[in-house]
Amino acid sequence: MACTCFPEDVPAPRSGEHYNFAAGPAMLPPTVLAQIQDELPDWRGSGQSMLELPFTGAPFKNLMREAVQDLRDLLAIPSNYRVLFMHGGATCQFGLLPLNLLAPGQSADYLDSGYWATKAIAEARRHAPLNIIASGANDGFRAIAPPEQWRLDPRAGYCHVTSNETANGLQLQHFPELSVPLVADMSSDFLTRPLPLERFGLIYASAQKNLGIAGLCLLIVRDDLLKAPRPGLPSPFSYALQAEQQSRLCTPPTFALYVAALMLRWIARQGGLEVMASASRGKSQRLYQYIDASDFYHCRQQPADRSAINVCFHLRDARLLPDFLKEAAATGLLNLQGHCAVGGVRVSLYNAMPLAGVERLLAFMHGFERRHG
Ligand SMILES: Cc1ncc(COP(=O)(O)O)c(C=O)c1O
Repeated sequence: MACTCFPEDVPAPRSGEHYNFAAGPAMLPPTVLAQIQDELPDWRGSGQSMLELPFTGAPFKNLMREAVQDLRDLLAIPSNYRVLFMHGGATCQFGLLPLNLLAPGQSADYLDSGYWATKAIAEARRHAPLNIIASGANDGFRAIAPPEQWRLDPRAGYCHVTSNETANGLQLQHFPELSVPLVADMSSDFLTRPLPLERFGLIYASAQKNLGIAGLCLLIVRDDLLKAPRPGLPSPFSYALQAEQQSRLCTPPTFALYVAALMLRWIARQGGLEVMASASRGKSQRLYQYIDASDFYHCRQQPADRSAINVCFHLRDARLLPDFLKEAAATGLLNLQGHCAVGGVRVSLYNAMPLAGVERLLAFMHGFERRHG
C-alpha cells in the first residue's frame, strides 16, 4: 500500500540552516557531501568520474578493499566473517535469508518487535515455516520482549531480530548468546554502537541511513553459513557465490559503494563507534527527557526499550500535528512526520545529525507548546 501520510503542502523552509530528520534516505554529513561534489568530475586524478569507473578495474577494486578493511577495523570483525555488498535494500534480504540459510522445510525463529520485523516475517514466511518467539503486536509495539521470554526452537536454522524498529522507536539493548545463529536486520542502527560480533551469524543493513545512499545492502556473514545455493536461486542473490566473487558477481552499485566508503572514513575520523554511541545517547536523551517532562507531548514506548536512533512521540492533541509539521518545516526542521503505520512525530538521529539539530528542534518544540498549549 502506498504511503499517504507524507504532508503534501509543507512549505519550503525559509533561508537559514536546515536539519533533515528523515528516516532514510537520510542526512549525510556536510563534509561527505562536499567530498562527493569535489570528486565527482575527476576521481583521485584518474581522469574519470566515480560514476564512470569500471568495477573490474584496479581503482574500484582497491576502493572496495579499503571499504571492507575500514568496516573490519570499525567493528573489529573477526576473520571468520565475510563482508558482502548486495544490490537492493534490506527488504530484498527478508526473502533471501531463508533461501540462503535454511534447508528446504527447515524453520526459523523470528522476534516480532514492530513494523519492520512484521514485514520481515511476512516475506520469509513465503519461503519457510517460521516460529514467532515473542510478539509485541497485542500491545501496539510499546516494548520488546526480553530474551528470557523468547520461546526459542533449538532446531531453528536461525533466529531473526530487528535491532532497531525505525517506525516504532524501539531498540534491542542487548544481544543474547544463542545456540542457533543470530541474524539481525540492523538497517537503522548499523554503525551507531559497538557490537559483540561473535554473537551473530549474520547482520544486514540497508545503506541509506548510516552508510550513505539507497541501492546497497551490506551483509556480514559467518563463514560456516555460506552454503551452496538452492536450485532456482539466481546467482547474484546467493551469499556463497557473492562471497566467492568478492561481491563482484555482477556490477555492484558502484556509486552507493563509493559513498559507503566515504561514510566509513567519516565515522572513523569522528572517533569510531564508541563516540557514535555516546552521541546517539546524548541526542536521544535530551529529547526523551523533554518529552517525559511535558504534558503536551508524550512517548508511548517503555523507557528501557526506547530507540536512541529514531525517537517517536505524539502530541497529546493529535489535531495539532499538521501545524506542528508545517511550522517545523518552515523553520528548516525537515521530515519529522512519523511512519505511516504509526503516525505522530519521528525524529531520526543518525550519525550525521549534530546535537545542534536536536537543540534547534527542542527550542521549536518548546515554542510550539507555548503557542498552542
Ligand atoms: C529496520 C528496517 N528494515 C528494513 C527496511 C527496509 O529497507 P529498504 O527499503 O532499503 O528495503 C527499513 C527501512 O526503513 C528499516 O528501517
